[in-house]
Amino acid sequence: MNAYFDHNSTTALRTEVLEAMLPFMVRQHGNPTSRHSFGRTARTAVEHAREQVAAAVGAYANQIVFTASGTEANNFAIHGICSNLEPAQILTSAIEHPCVSRPALAMQVADSQVKAWQAKSIKVDSNCNINMTHLQNLLQAPTNLVSVMLANNETGVMQDIAKIAELTRKHKAYVHTDAVQALGKIPVDFFALNVHAMTISSHKVGGPLGAGALVLDKRIDIQPLLYGGGQERGLRSGTENVAAIVGFGVACELALSNLTAFDMHTDNLRQHLETGLDKLNAVIFGRDGLRIPNTSFFAFTNLDGETLVTALDKVGFAVASGSACSSDSDKPSHVLLAMGVDEDLARGAVRVSFGMNNTLDQVQHFLKALEHEVTRLRNLTAIAA
Ligand SMILES: Cc1ncc(COP(=O)(O)O)c(C=O)c1O
Repeated sequence: MNAYFDHNSTTALRTEVLEAMLPFMVRQHGNPTSRHSFGRTARTAVEHAREQVAAAVGAYANQIVFTASGTEANNFAIHGICSNLEPAQILTSAIEHPCVSRPALAMQVADSQVKAWQAKSIKVDSNCNINMTHLQNLLQAPTNLVSVMLANNETGVMQDIAKIAELTRKHKAYVHTDAVQALGKIPVDFFALNVHAMTISSHKVGGPLGAGALVLDKRIDIQPLLYGGGQERGLRSGTENVAAIVGFGVACELALSNLTAFDMHTDNLRQHLETGLDKLNAVIFGRDGLRIPNTSFFAFTNLDGETLVTALDKVGFAVASGSACSSDSDKPSHVLLAMGVDEDLARGAVRVSFGMNNTLDQVQHFLKALEHEVTRLRNLTAIAA
């Protein structure tokens, strides 16, 4: 068996996406800024993709700023919004991806002379939900920006961003959400979320690597990260990655039309998986929170997650460990630690994230393999002890 259960890390390029991209990698190689027909064709393609991406998140095309990745869009949001403001607090949740929490910390370090920027972390509860009282307390001090992710990449738990935005706006701060793990899995509506800025990424939804976007409230004053030729209305210079942007557009359109099917299919697979996990006495993290349908994050006591991931890979199952999204792979997941999970148990974390190509048969084989590997590894540990 060869099953890929790591769709929150990245997804395979969809065939329709590749087909749409290919002409822009070979025949239609124009630069969208050029006035000739090659350039105009590329420009038309980029603007069409902008419409497709905007439609997927209920926004207008002129709110989309294309970037090279979700990471870039998050850095752009934090630095770009804060650079225009007088120093104050930046609040990010304790479970953010490092490409949100680290730029916030970098603002603090960059301005260490003044020490006025303060990057602070908003606590979560044991279900991975934002502690609203803590947010409310933090907001008593002058705050420029609150950034909370829509869906967590590890547990899959979703936050009530509209509620967070309502509270934050009362304190005259800006709100950003990282919707990278939500796009294509649940409906995402920029206006309903009531945020000023939102990040999305192409390769998580069947699009290519090399494209992401920041969706912006048009009234927001934001500084570019990259200066140069003034592409993307001066907000993100650099020749557009036309093929990747075209692919991102098609991927968004397909993801939008596939939302219900994705929900039904992956939720069904997860139910089967978690019924099996219960029988194996696994601890499932964030289970009582509202989760995106495709994600399950679990651990077995006294069993190292990295070891289990390697063992499962050897028998044909690609899953992630808790530290998969960080280069500090010797540390347990910061998300689990923020949820108050015991460090030893957190070290055991394994994430399964399903996609449309996964099947019930794969899940059943996985559960058998998991049972076998857990028993085998426990026996090895017992012998070594
Ligand atoms: C929640 C979240 N935000 C941002 C990113 C970064 O996106 P990209 O890989 O496009 O840089 C990821 C990637 O894993 C993610 O899971």
